Order: sequence, then structure tokens, then C-alpha cells
Amino acid sequence: MISNRLKSLAKYFSKDDKVIDIGCDHALLDIYLIEEGILKSMIVSDIHEKALQQGIDNIKLHKLEKRIETRLGNGLEVLKNSDDIDTILISGMGTSTILSIIENPYFKKINKLVIQSNNDHEILRAELIKKSFNIIHEEMVKDANKTYINIVFIRGRKTYTELEIKYGPILVRNLDYLKYREDYVKNILDKIPMNKILIRHKLKKELNEIKRMKKNIK
Ligand SMILES: C[S@@+](CC[C@H](N)C(=O)[O-])C[C@H]1O[C@@H](n2cnc3c(N)ncnc32)[C@H](O)[C@@H]1O
Repeated sequence: MISNRLKSLAKYFSKDDKVIDIGCDHALLDIYLIEEGILKSMIVSDIHEKALQQGIDNIKLHKLEKRIETRLGNGLEVLKNSDDIDTILISGMGTSTILSIIENPYFKKINKLVIQSNNDHEILRAELIKKSFNIIHEEMVKDANKTYINIVFIRGRKTYTELEIKYGPILVRNLDYLKYREDYVKNILDKIPMNKILIRHKLKKELNEIKRMKKNIK
């Protein structure tokens, strides 16, 4: 069965999107997108044969071989110029892998990215904004005691403040997210020894920043 974490990504797609899921693994979200009629067809890929095989097996089980095409390989390298993919879905990967994947000539044909990165969301935002993308959706999703961040980028230049890039232009105005982030930072601070003055100072500064933002929302 599909998890809430994966299901939460489905709402960001519309019928006209021509999607590749990079790092599909089990392909559960892809099967859901097709079975729910959200997408008519799509390409899914994975760099590891065993992972892709899991996807292929699940796709066969659901008899969706004609609607979901599978490709083995590294990131956007599986696409040819003749493909008409314009939307990338990536979930369950770290930001540095995501950024290395988009360093590919095919990326100029991409207009939308739906991303659930495991880490470094500030770097992800900053790099995609530099590449002339802006953020249209951001969401914090809780599933099985873990917290995930979904971000949807579309092509188009927009200016953001430092705080918007750090916390997210939408999440920076979300009280639940700020509370989560405050607890997260407090947790780290509690584990940092007293003699690590610089890192403690940086974390305390972030806590004050979050407190100020929370006050502005209330
Ligand atoms: C943790 S799984 C996430 C699977 C699924 N997207 C999800 O969110 O549940 C990450 C998958 O990405 C694949 N992967 C990692 N780097 C990749 C790359 N550069 N290109 C394609 N797939 C990659 C891995 O083999 C693995 O199957």
C-alpha cells in the first residue's frame, strides 16, 4: 500500500505534465498516479537494477506496462532529446544527488520539479532559484513519526529574501513548520557540548530567528 509520504506528492501533478520519476525503486507512487487517472502515462527510472526490477515487478502486477515505461540509468541520462518529458519527480534522495542529476543538458526542457529531498532544503531552494525556478508549493508531511518536506518548483524568475530561501517562502509563514523547526534545532542544541561555543551560538541565533517569525504569524 502507498504511504502518506508518497501519496502527498500526487496532488502536485496535472494531466498535461509529462513526468519522469527518477529513483522510482518500487514505483508505488507511479502506479498510484496512473491508477487514479492523475497521469495517462509516464517514464520511471532507477540507477540500480535491483531497485528498478522491483518497480518493473509491481508495474506488471498492476498490468500497467503499457502506461509506465521503465529505464535503467543515472538521473536525466536516461532521457533522449526526442523524449518530451517536462516534469521531474524525485523523492527519497539527498539534495546533493538531486543537484548532480539536474546538471544535464536535458534539464533545459524541464519546467517543473516535484521534490521530496531528505536534507539541505535551503541549498536545494538556492540552487534552483539560481537556475530561474520559483516555488509554487511547499508542505510539511508527517508519516510514521518522520517529517518530510515537499517542494514544487516551476520555471520562472522570482526574488526571495534570505529567510524565505532558508525556511521556504511558504513554510516560513506556517506555524506548525516553525514549531517543528524550533524543536529540531533545540534537540540539536541539547546535544552540543558547552565548549562548542560557535556552533551553539549559531543554533541559538536560529532559535531567536524562529521565535521572531512565530510572533509575526500570531
Ligand atoms: C530511497 S529510494 C526512494 C524511492 C522512492 N522514490 C521513494 O520515495 O520511496 C532512492 C532510489 O533512488 C535511486 N537513485 C539514487 N541515485 C540515483 C540516480 N542518480 N539516478 C537514478 N536513481 C537513483 C536508488 O537506487 C533508490 O532506488
